[in-house]
Amino acid sequence: MSSLEEPLGLDKLSSLSTIDLQRFSSNACRPRAEDMGMGSCWIEGRNCSSSSNCNEDYEGYTREAFQWKRQTRETSQGDSLKRRTSSQGRSCMVYGSSCDSWYSSDHQYGFQCNNKGARGMTNKFLGGIPKFVKIVEVGPRDGLQNEKNIVPTAVKVELIHRLVSCGLPVVEATSFVSPKWVPQLADAKDVMEAVRNLEGARLPVLTPNLKGFEAAIAAGAKEVAIFASASESFSKSNINCSIEESLTRYRAVSLAAKKLSIPVRGYVSCVVGCPAEGAISPSKVAYVAKELYDMGCFEISLGDTIGVATPGAIVPMLEAVMAVVPVEKLAVHFHDTYGQSLPNILLSLQMGISTIDCSVAGLGGCPYAKGASGNVATEDVVYMLNGLGVKTNVDLGKLMLVGDFISNHLGRPSGSKTAIALSRVNVDASKI
Ligand code: HMG
Ligand code: MG
Repeated sequence: MSSLEEPLGLDKLSSLSTIDLQRFSSNACRPRAEDMGMGSCWIEGRNCSSSSNCNEDYEGYTREAFQWKRQTRETSQGDSLKRRTSSQGRSCMVYGSSCDSWYSSDHQYGFQCNNKGARGMTNKFLGGIPKFVKIVEVGPRDGLQNEKNIVPTAVKVELIHRLVSCGLPVVEATSFVSPKWVPQLADAKDVMEAVRNLEGARLPVLTPNLKGFEAAIAAGAKEVAIFASASESFSKSNINCSIEESLTRYRAVSLAAKKLSIPVRGYVSCVVGCPAEGAISPSKVAYVAKELYDMGCFEISLGDTIGVATPGAIVPMLEAVMAVVPVEKLAVHFHDTYGQSLPNILLSLQMGISTIDCSVAGLGGCPYAKGASGNVATEDVVYMLNGLGVKTNVDLGKLMLVGDFISNHLGRPSGSKTAIALSRVNVDASKI
């Protein structure tokens, strides 16, 4: 392994003090001697030349593009950061002000600036991010529905138990779909019956029609999710009906759920791209999201089913949906095929979204979306949110053990970069 591939371990901490924050500031647009030949920086397609800096362009851009901010923070990093015990602090200069880096006992890096100027800079980039993010763990459903080998019911039940014990507020447990279509989840009834009395988290299940809804309720489900698509072709291949037919079915499910006071979550799939149709227009996504919202869904999760979205595509899509569904009712659901999930999530947070779907160890994929990889790994999302000072109530250490549990069972390494890096750091630390 080259030194570049090694994760930062405890022995590398001293190098943190050499991080040059100016490189990440707007002044970074001024070329530095060592950057010559590497080009310059781009903001919304504009190339900042050597004689100018990007401050003006950036301010115009943020005013225009980040108008969705719902909550603003009073402090740069939130109270949670202040409460952290810094095991190793380093001071550095940002625009002449003092900032402290911290490194906590759970191997998390962060920054805290007490100076007004530096805080203003932090607020500019991170001020709109919610203080608390609800993580919806979809591994037992979205993850295991795509496994070649069928996972035994007892392992699924154990997985759900362990995930709940990490502090995850919602764990999607299984799907009441046709066992001919998704044999991996043919044991939905047994799984649900085994976890129906589990406390500490909500355990929704997918229901494609009334038949699935009735079976789910009989097995003890207290929350369900319905799943429509913004792509006509994907709707046909996934649930064997058109978008309109699916909405008719889902109205019947929503009505039945309302009578029993069962909360219904709605999914919209293919919110950016479809394996058959290519690019999907934001207005189609907004239409389906609004239909689900109007039929009573308490939350609408926007799914990049094949993981092709980039932040550039996420902005117009979210903008269109937010025009018809309140932002606090929205969640995002990214598959990580092109490794774009974390930037997409960061952007979604900046636009005010505070519910994120993810999957332990990055399990997952949709059996009817060929080539789509797993969901963004829960460990990676929690690591990023911890670094941003956003609360989730999820215990990252415990979550890593759950990731080990299911990855060992499946006989392959975790799909979480955080889990892989932290487990190496832990091995290194144990050698010290
Ligand atoms: P169909 O074949 O059109 O349905 O399937 P049907 O009404 O003609 O019935 C055919 C057979 O299925 C009958 O049985 C029914 O009883 C049975 P038979 O008489 O042949 O023995 N059936 C059922 N059995 C159990 N549970 C049910 C059920 N309904 C009918 N609920 C159906 C239509 C929707 C059922 C089928 O297409 C299906 O099950 N599709 C599953 C799709 C699926 O689970 N996809 C993955 C989840 S979606 C996803 O992953 C995306 C998401 O993560 C977000 C994102 O990433 O974008 C949510
Ligand atoms: Mg999915």
